[in-house]
Amino acid sequence: MRRIGTHGLSMPVLGLGTWPMKGEECTTAVAGALAMGYRHIDTAEMYGNEEAVGAGIRASGIARADIHLTTKVWWDHLEPKALRAAFNASLQRLGTDYVDLYLIHWPASGMNLGAALDTMMALREAGFARAIGVSNFTVALMHEAVRYAPIACNQVEYHLMLGQAKVLDFARAHGIALTAYAPVARGLFGGDKTVAAIARKHGASAEQVALAWLLAQDEVAAIPKAAKPENQRANLAALDLRLSPDDIAALDALPKDRRQVNASFAPDWDR
Ligand SMILES: NC(=O)c1ccc[n+]([C@@H]2O[C@H](COP(=O)([O-])OP(=O)(O)OC[C@H]3O[C@@H](n4cnc5c(N)ncnc54)[C@H](OP(=O)(O)O)[C@@H]3O)[C@@H](O)[C@H]2O)c1
Repeated sequence: MRRIGTHGLSMPVLGLGTWPMKGEECTTAVAGALAMGYRHIDTAEMYGNEEAVGAGIRASGIARADIHLTTKVWWDHLEPKALRAAFNASLQRLGTDYVDLYLIHWPASGMNLGAALDTMMALREAGFARAIGVSNFTVALMHEAVRYAPIACNQVEYHLMLGQAKVLDFARAHGIALTAYAPVARGLFGGDKTVAAIARKHGASAEQVALAWLLAQDEVAAIPKAAKPENQRANLAALDLRLSPDDIAALDALPKDRRQVNASFAPDWDR
């Protein structure tokens, strides 16, 4: 599978999202996806499923070194001591001695970003995290972050119905990968006529078209969550779906303002 990344990152462009799966369902989904060919798994301390993800990785029999594993620190653990403790707890739950990518899950208002990123850099330099990055960071926050550390990734909501042009421009200019979360928009565009027509033409599903649109873009990865094996398989097959320039233009023209994830603690997205 194609990989992207700089600043220590080498990430397969398609991964498996694991929220909100837990326990046995999560372990089965992770092990099944790895058996199918996935080599990128996304989790977070907040998901409460790191133990299940670790169990799935071990059950798959795939060597840890062949898997890209992302986890994230929650926004109330950004103070250096708390961050180190959160990181160690994540490693312990995952049952691994390093992660491939460690992200700040959400920015916190009033956070000391420099101190958090210094702490994450120390983890990276010690070999416990191959790369570090952020999630839900706006352009203004990315500007600030790159002053402190080589940020390898910004994981943000991105799909056919939500544009990220400014974040993507900034990311590309700074060698930062953009990981699209909610990449199939949780089914939001299911009934859209443009998407349906393109899907029909290619003998594909709307979700596969949505993923192909993302994966046709440089420096963009996607982490659809799929518990069902048939959905996991369909998403993997989307890697082979080639959209025409006309398809892409039609998909580009869809409304791009339908944000699905907006927490009470979210930053001002337009900054
Ligand atoms: N950084 C952040 O703040 C943040 C926020 C949200 C999410 N995330 C990450 O991003 C991942 C994905 O986002 P998400 O779960 O919100 O949304 P999503 O991946 O866009 O949507 C997941 C839903 O789509 C279904 N689905 C997946 N592939 C499909 C296919 N080929 N055909 C039909 N249905 C399909 C899944 O069904 P089944 O499960 O039944 O197969 C599930 O109900 C999360 O799991 C998490 O790892 C990160």
